[in-house]
Amino acid sequence: MTAEYKVTGAVAVITLNNPPVNGLGASTRSAIVEGMKKALGDNAVKAVVITGAGKAFSGGADIKEFNTPKAFAEPTLHTVINVVENSTKPVIAAIHSVCMGGGLELALGCNYRVASPGAQIALPEVKLGILPGAGGTQRLPRVVGLEMALNMIVSGTPVASEKLAKTGLFNEMIEGDLMQGALAFANKVADTRPLPKVRDIKIDYPNYEAFLQFSRNTVKAMAGPYPAPLKCVEAVAAAVTEKFDNGIKIERDLFVELVQTDESKALRHAFFAERAASKIPDVPEDTPTRAIKSAAVIGAGTMGGGIAMNFANAGIPVKILEMKPEALEKGLATIRKNYENTMKKGKLTPAKFEERVGLITGTMSYEEIGSADIVVEAVFEEMGVKEQVFKKLDEVMKPGAILASNTSTLDVDKIADLTKRPQDVIGLHFFSPANVMKLLEIVRGAKTGKDVLATSLGLSKKIKKTGVVSGVCDGFIGNRMIEQYSRQAGFLLEEGCLPEQVDKAVEKFGFAMGPFRMGDLAGNDIGWAIRKRRYVEKPEVTYSKTADLLCEMGRYGQKTGAGWYDYKPGDRKAYASQAVNDMIVKHSADLGIERRKISDQEIVERLVFALVNEGAYILEEGIALRASDIDMVYLTGYGFPVFRGGPMFYADTVGLPNVILAMEKFAAGRHGEAWKPAPLLAKLAAEGKTFN
Ligand code: 3HC
Ligand code: NAI
Repeated sequence: MTAEYKVTGAVAVITLNNPPVNGLGASTRSAIVEGMKKALGDNAVKAVVITGAGKAFSGGADIKEFNTPKAFAEPTLHTVINVVENSTKPVIAAIHSVCMGGGLELALGCNYRVASPGAQIALPEVKLGILPGAGGTQRLPRVVGLEMALNMIVSGTPVASEKLAKTGLFNEMIEGDLMQGALAFANKVADTRPLPKVRDIKIDYPNYEAFLQFSRNTVKAMAGPYPAPLKCVEAVAAAVTEKFDNGIKIERDLFVELVQTDESKALRHAFFAERAASKIPDVPEDTPTRAIKSAAVIGAGTMGGGIAMNFANAGIPVKILEMKPEALEKGLATIRKNYENTMKKGKLTPAKFEERVGLITGTMSYEEIGSADIVVEAVFEEMGVKEQVFKKLDEVMKPGAILASNTSTLDVDKIADLTKRPQDVIGLHFFSPANVMKLLEIVRGAKTGKDVLATSLGLSKKIKKTGVVSGVCDGFIGNRMIEQYSRQAGFLLEEGCLPEQVDKAVEKFGFAMGPFRMGDLAGNDIGWAIRKRRYVEKPEVTYSKTADLLCEMGRYGQKTGAGWYDYKPGDRKAYASQAVNDMIVKHSADLGIERRKISDQEIVERLVFALVNEGAYILEEGIALRASDIDMVYLTGYGFPVFRGGPMFYADTVGLPNVILAMEKFAAGRHGEAWKPAPLLAKLAAEGKTFN
């Protein structure tokens, strides 16, 4: 049963029991109504308590049922709430741990609510691109006030129950045993009549029109491409301007409209994709893990410093090893400066600052790091240097330590075989800046131990990253795909585009940054070095030489004050560069290409479908376990627009046959060989299927 029914004295207790978070799926909803029927039909029962088993009161409507007939099956959440609200016996919600979305809406339908301190209270629907659809927008303002309700509904942010103790949301806070307190409360109100209903409360906010207009303006300016936040304001407005039943209807209509939007589908996809990424079929959740209580990082450069900060932020002491004292000092000073900046912004207290800086120490001696539970190597991207480091690590690290490499492109299996303990070796590929970017590609080598993988997945959560597992290949999931995207960006320059047009088209599509602004930020010399190596190994791969010519001009990007764009000192804004544009046009002429006008649609399709096609190969080869993992990589590491759900989900939205049609068109152009559909893409398109 997904809800249990038990009578204690004169009180019936309905306990939602639908793990993991008591989602209000069809069967749970039926079980609540059944419980209510029993309670109302039993003369010995004077009051009803609704609560949740396990780690939640309720996490809300079952998101997995959205877009399935179960979501609309009777009893709907509206019906359940009506049954509760119209009960002739008092109904009390006993809230603990998590009370969100439909869970809070159910509680608001009860006559009374009691809660434990520390419960997370939220209407987080907006984060899924929808709004509370079971009365939340109408009832919450009636108990916590218009302003607080609007804030909660538009932001979706949880509020701790004790912070709401003084509002009308809770009748009593229960410090000790929640169920005992709830039963006592139920006995106390058992004979109270008439029963209070939230819907009957009048919202007292005399100047509501001005407030609502202000909210509309503010929310509109902040909502970006998402339709939900403004609709939240409209629904809450109805709570003040309309009679209750009409407000409910308005809320319902807006909810139905939003559920069907691509933005909401994409956000829901991202929600589940993030959770799916941590599930590895042959590494069950009960796989033993290794304790990570101390860490070491080799190399205090761009990546090493950021990686060390991740450990310190999670309270794990970390030693950074460098070869030269100057490099070590420079690295430690950069870390300190980063923390100082965060403190200046008010995001870190002086005490936390001291604590974090204190957790990071430097060393030049391998002996000093030997006892660390994990070591992450972030030295130069050269196999020779990695070899020296891993051989040394093999000598000094204690048995059972995890040896990780932050390599972006090198073969993790080869690195593992440099040691006598390949089972302990794994790739932990952080993204720059490593203390900020959410993505952590966890590269599973052929011999990586399952416990090492499970520990790394757990570690990614601990340091607040989204861990996505990748198999071993050149560039892993993310960079292998971006290579195809960059190739197309280069060809577009040869055929008629300038960097600004490409960047603008892609940014309009929703990317945080176009490829050329991104190149200038990351450093064009990094890609140059990779191309020199990669294209010697693979001479058959065609690519545009414009990026090499740019580097030959010494234009490495922001760090040299010039890249695809010009930069002014102290100003990160990119200005179109005449010198670069002349170089691009001349390069086309040298190749004998007649430059043409290229539409923004072609730019976006060529860049995004190049990602999709490579993603299909990656999926087929088993480098990625599932399409949604690829989406997570792009959403959290490459600035792919979240409202489009990631490249594979976006391709599904466009329709895979349409993707193939576009690719056939491009295949007829220059470098058409790049557009051969991956067999998996062709197969799914032909079968009318999708990636996700
Ligand atoms: N429906 C279905 N499954 C849900 C769910 C929901 N509402 N909320 C969480 N889950 C599942 C997750 O998918 C995950 O499943 P898995 O173990 O199979 O991967 C599991 O519950 C645990 O989730 P987390 O890993 O996120 O666990 P945490 O303990 O870190 O967090 C939580 C728990 C705070 C409840 C978090 O899961 C969360 O924020 N969930 C979303 C809550 C939400 O958005 N509710 C609104 C739903 S829409 C709604 O109610 C519409 C209504 O207005 C009509
Ligand atoms: P970096 O050049 O900024 O830093 C490398 C550091 O390693 C330097 O401080 C150097 O003194 C030190 N070092 C070199 N050899 C050493 C040795 N034998 N022992 C100890 N220290 C040594 O390089 P960056 O950018 O930090 O890259 C490091 C690794 O991270 C590379 O493998 C790179 O491919 C990878 N990476 C880089 C990303 C980036 O955006 N920069 C992103 C993801 C991964």
